[in-house]
Amino acid sequence: MIVITGATGSIGRALVRRLRGEEVTAVVRTPADLGCRYVLGDFERPETIGKVLSPGDRLFLNSSLWPGFVTAHRAVIDLAREAGVAQIVTVSVRDAAPGQPLGGGPHGEVDEYLRASGIPWSILQPVGFMQNLLGGIRDDLIHGSYGPGGVGYIDTRDIADVAAALLTRPVGESRNHILTGTAAPTHDELAAEASAALGRTIRYVDLPIPEMAAHLERHGMSADFAGELARGMARVGDGRWSSTTSEVQDITGHPPRSLADFLADHAAEFERGPK
Ligand SMILES: NC(=O)c1ccc[n+]([C@@H]2O[C@H](COP(=O)([O-])OP(=O)(O)OC[C@H]3O[C@@H](n4cnc5c(N)ncnc54)[C@H](OP(=O)(O)O)[C@@H]3O)[C@@H](O)[C@H]2O)c1
Repeated sequence: MIVITGATGSIGRALVRRLRGEEVTAVVRTPADLGCRYVLGDFERPETIGKVLSPGDRLFLNSSLWPGFVTAHRAVIDLAREAGVAQIVTVSVRDAAPGQPLGGGPHGEVDEYLRASGIPWSILQPVGFMQNLLGGIRDDLIHGSYGPGGVGYIDTRDIADVAAALLTRPVGESRNHILTGTAAPTHDELAAEASAALGRTIRYVDLPIPEMAAHLERHGMSADFAGELARGMARVGDGRWSSTTSEVQDITGHPPRSLADFLADHAAEFERGPK
């Protein structure tokens, strides 16, 4: 059995589709029409996920972040070990390590715990998601503090494809997989590519950290998180996420979807035009 947590998320939904025909159980917080068997479970009550697990199961461990993330994910790893789970594939982030800002810190703590758990593991370490663009282009503008730093944005469908391959082949070597798209455009290049694909001018506006934080706050983010996110963008400006890897191709046998593919597939969602 392949047990999928975070099954209603952007990676989880693509993974469920990709695993059609396999024996799959999705863990969801509220009933969801995913086209597969599901059980109700919540990381805030780890036992609701633990009770789903049986010896030999393969577990996709994933959820969004919240303050209880580390405790809850560690508890589910303990329950998976007790249940005799054969493998855990999890989603982390590139450069995750304890003490890192944003998601890097909590993911780093869970990653370390998983590596020491004795359960065979695969840690997927993607950079930014192309899907972020769906909310990130407003009034034909993309705001950020990335400066000239490129980002190898990846489509979450490729992360799902990697997870599906790792969860269905014989359990292999436990290791980290840094996942990127085919290219790592700067945000000016990304805006130019979006303009060409969508047939209207999209512009990248690079803002100093305080102004970016204020911009995010105006769009409903808490002051603390807005500041942290703006500082995180500026760190990426040093080019740390501007290299690409061949992991998607190596594991799935197909190249990652390009930004042009992503924009074409989501053209209807971007068809808002300037206000
Ligand atoms: N966005 C990025 O650019 C980026 C980059 C690198 C890494 N990541 C990592 O990617 C992961 C998330 O990706 P995603 O595609 O799954 O995100 P997503 O589309 O936001 O989905 C999050 C999933 O987690 C589930 N969830 C949240 N809290 C839960 C809880 N307490 N119990 C059970 N399920 C819970 C949600 O369920 P509901 O439907 O019930 O809410 C949903 O299925 C995070 O670990 C994030 O740090 C993100």
